[in-house]
Amino acid sequence: MRLIHSVTELRAALAGEAKTAFVPTMGNLHAGHIALVEQARAVGRPVVASIFVNPLQFGAGEDFQRYPRTLEADCERLEAAGCDIVFAPDANEMYPEPQTFHVQPPLADELCGAFRPGHFSGVATVVLKLFNMVRPATAIFGKKDYQQLFILKGLARQFNLPIRILEAETTRAADGLALSSRNGYLSAAEREEAPRLIRLLREAAARVAAGERDFTDIERAAGVELAAHGWRVDYFSARDQATLLPPTPESHELVILAAAHLGGTRLIDNIEVCVN
Ligand code: PAF
Repeated sequence: MRLIHSVTELRAALAGEAKTAFVPTMGNLHAGHIALVEQARAVGRPVVASIFVNPLQFGAGEDFQRYPRTLEADCERLEAAGCDIVFAPDANEMYPEPQTFHVQPPLADELCGAFRPGHFSGVATVVLKLFNMVRPATAIFGKKDYQQLFILKGLARQFNLPIRILEAETTRAADGLALSSRNGYLSAAEREEAPRLIRLLREAAARVAAGERDFTDIERAAGVELAAHGWRVDYFSARDQATLLPPTPESHELVILAAAHLGGTRLIDNIEVCVN
């Protein structure tokens, strides 16, 4: 496995490759990322993983400074998983000019975007740059970041990028908690409490699957339950999978998404549910 820091070296290493499979990450890798690398190996070679903590997608007061940088351990895990190239640029390599273009995606102010202004613009901008640097045939993103995946599929489609976007199921701990680099911020007591988020999403999905259509009531009940256990809820919201907008009477494929803070840690998760 090669560790590459510069775009020039990356371009040379990937010259002539037509089946590159790409897994963009911010590092501090866990089993969920490794599952993405394994999926990448099944669809193309070489497998490239990027590691870049993107300042553009963090807001003021968010965890950019304390986001764990664990390059050496990440490289060991990636090598063991069969990754061929790790691309780990620094901020000057990624943003060499003081004034940067920003991609402004639709839906960037909805759901997480309503609470993290600029976040999805930062994500879309860095991913477009990474796509242009790596020029992959396929890129793989996890469904835990559902809105991110939705926006990046739109990015590839609307900018006519010749890249197939694959989605990967969320990897979970035995108690259901979605794996996330941010889980490392949780205290032991918070870690015990954290699976409540997916439990409530599953309960809400069961109510919807059973035919309930009063989404406001379902969302409010989950919010009350989370607040009663010390969470600060950003949103708990049923949406149409195709639009990520509130469901209409014609919506059949729904997704319920949630974001809430447990102590100083913001957790997100979601569950898909189909209705007749
Ligand atoms: O999901 C992430 O880790 C990041 O948002 C991504 C896609 C690597 C862009 O920085």
